[in-house]
Amino acid sequence: MLTRNRPWRADLSRSLHLFREFGHEQSDPARFYTALALDSAQQLASYHDLSGQLMLDVGGGPGYFRDAFESKGATYVALDADVGELAGAGSIDRRTVIGSGMQLPFGTGSVDVCYSSNVLEHVPDPWLMAEEMVRVTRPGGLVFISYTTWFGPWGGHETSPRHYLGGRRARRAYAARHGHEPKNKFGESLFAVTVADGLGWARTQQVADVVHLVPRYNPSWSRWLLRVPVLREVVTWNLVLVLRKR
Ligand SMILES: C[S@@+](CC[C@H](N)C(=O)[O-])C[C@H]1O[C@@H](n2cnc3c(N)ncnc32)[C@H](O)[C@@H]1O
Repeated sequence: MLTRNRPWRADLSRSLHLFREFGHEQSDPARFYTALALDSAQQLASYHDLSGQLMLDVGGGPGYFRDAFESKGATYVALDADVGELAGAGSIDRRTVIGSGMQLPFGTGSVDVCYSSNVLEHVPDPWLMAEEMVRVTRPGGLVFISYTTWFGPWGGHETSPRHYLGGRRARRAYAARHGHEPKNKFGESLFAVTVADGLGWARTQQVADVVHLVPRYNPSWSRWLLRVPVLREVVTWNLVLVLRKR
């Protein structure tokens, strides 16, 4: 069931701003991720008042999102499987947990908001991770899952656009050209997760209602594209699934 409560509205200038910031991702990751975090906190707060809420960020990485969510009043806990990623921006912050998104070390219904950005495509069983996120969220709490879609322009990450010829081939081509493997290795740390996969998973949820299904970086008016098979796969860089636990 799709519930309608204050869906997020995004205009073209916001998309252009994010794409401009994305241009700095390699040279100045802090700049790009801080801009993305501020945008994410605003989007999340449009669905759920974060004030006083316990929030789990699955695959939080170096912690660029912490300040943005804390500024909205949330108590922020990050979980990540990789200590190196957690320490990427310096020291590992307080309230950080090492663990797997596919087996969250948290009790059922123990957090108010469970959030994940750009992680699902990096785990071998993405929908197990999504189920785990729903499980640890309390009734009435919010689940926010955003992932890079495989057939989108950035689906292959640094191997794009060769991923359109196949993930393994793109990985081999990258290694041959650069003399080393890509950071995101298809079949090991990068998996093909489509728009159809996410929409299908959301619509079969029994214990959570769908609040919003939205391409993350696109303007709101382009949301109709999600209804067009094939086209939606190539124009959606990143899909956001927002659900409220019953
Ligand atoms: C592309 S980064 C995303 C970081 C941050 N969430 C963001 O949006 O910028 C993917 C993160 O997922 C983490 N990750 C990969 N597999 C994971 C797993 N099984 N459980 C939890 N985190 C995982 C990685 O260590 C990495 O920090």
